[in-house]
Amino acid sequence: MGSYVKVGSEGDVALGTVKCVRTGDRRIALFNERGTLVAYDDACTHVGGPLSEGLCEDGTITCLWHGAKFRIADGEPLTPPAGGKLRGYPVRVHAGVIEIEIDP
Ligand code: FES
Repeated sequence: MGSYVKVGSEGDVALGTVKCVRTGDRRIALFNERGTLVAYDDACTHVGGPLSEGLCEDGTITCLWHGAKFRIADGEPLTPPAGGKLRGYPVRVHAGVIEIEIDP
């Protein structure tokens, strides 16, 4: 089990958008999907494009490098050339602070 680290404050990620947050040397794409915060590695499973710079639309994120699309709710790939499911992280909000569980 990992430990939770602070990555921002409630309200930092607007509804229907994504933001890159950093903890240590990791880049994490933090989404606000219909009011629920969801976090994945900020790296497309094709060849690592930054998902935080992608297009959020109708519950999906489209990587701008080559067009792979993923479902934000669960990270499942929807279109080629995605290489597989996105790696996700548990997210919680405690006293207005957004925290993500990171493996040691
Ligand atoms: S790196 Fe994302 S589609 Fe190629």
